[in-house]
Amino acid sequence: MNPILQVKNLSLQTREDKRLLVDGVSFEIEEGESVGLVGESGSGKTLTALSILGLLPAAVEVKSGEILFKGESISQMSNSALQQIRGNRISMIYQDPMTSLNPMMRIGKQIQEVFDAHEIDDSKEKVIEALRSVEIPNPEEAFSSYPHEFSGGMRQRVMIAMAMLLKPNLLLADEPTTALDVTIQKQILNLVKREREENSMSLLWISHDLGVVSEMVEKVVVMYAGRVAEIGAVKEIFQNPRHPYTHGLIGSIVKRSHQERLLSIPGIPPKPWTIESSCAFADRCPRVQADCTVQMPALQTENSHSYSCFHPEGSPS
Ligand SMILES: Nc1ncnc2c1ncn2[C@@H]1O[C@H](COP(=O)(O)OP(=O)(O)OP(=O)(O)O)[C@@H](O)[C@H]1O
Ligand code: SF4
Ligand SMILES: [Mg+2]
Repeated sequence: MNPILQVKNLSLQTREDKRLLVDGVSFEIEEGESVGLVGESGSGKTLTALSILGLLPAAVEVKSGEILFKGESISQMSNSALQQIRGNRISMIYQDPMTSLNPMMRIGKQIQEVFDAHEIDDSKEKVIEALRSVEIPNPEEAFSSYPHEFSGGMRQRVMIAMAMLLKPNLLLADEPTTALDVTIQKQILNLVKREREENSMSLLWISHDLGVVSEMVEKVVVMYAGRVAEIGAVKEIFQNPRHPYTHGLIGSIVKRSHQERLLSIPGIPPKPWTIESSCAFADRCPRVQADCTVQMPALQTENSHSYSCFHPEGSPS
């Protein structure tokens, strides 16, 4: 196998007071593979994705670890090499399309700027073709529209068009459908699936919703409080979840499909910097035992399925 992306033991912290936000995250994406990054709000999904592009917010820094794109360390690359990779080789659909589109600039002009940045023909016809490719009705009219004239779903399509313009090798999609209604959500999922197949692109699909992720990807990385809880093929994760947190996430999907009130796992995750020598999930875990609160479980791997738990599901508790 040939990994396109390797995240190796990545830890992130705040620049000022050195609070740990992401702790030792490792995973890989193979060429053409689609991977889901799942976890509750604050688990570190967006920061992990931004690290891949070398675009962390100013207040956050890499504490340790390394990210390799096609075997080359991103932190060792010059600014101009990184600039070439962003958009061209790796694209990102950001969590909030309204803040990533310039409200003062017409849609067509914004797309032309992406082409310009990479010195590619930015003719109006090419931009209209890009808008048509994401099924925006009346692309000629859309070319001259401002973002606020578009619905959330249409803005998200524009973001996808921009992300796909340069046929990236890897797409990072950060909760791209969260704010949309279910029908539009389905359309966007199908659009990304189609683009992916046409361009044999690798994908990192970020979501707090394991159900949505499982429709899009082959492998899932479950994050909890800035750490990796479990990694495995989608089928394996659903049929044989080992981490009690993953088990709880699957339970809440099943409940939803039975139209019951969604019972999420009671409690909230701790902040990563407050966890010292305990499993981060101990306060919420139905399988917790005394040893869970004196030591942090390391990620262990059995047949390409990894989990960090002393008393995994499927073992005697
Ligand atoms: N600019 C920043 N300065 C300080 N802390 C930050 C900054 N950005 C994020 N954090 C903190 O880092 C942690 C991880 O944030 P991140 O945005 O990666 O979470 P997430 O998993 O993407 O959550 P969500 O599902 O809400 O998007 C959170 O505790 C968050 O408060
Ligand atoms: S290590 Fe213990 S507390 Fe943590 S998830 Fe496993 S059983 Fe639960
Ligand atoms: Mg996020």
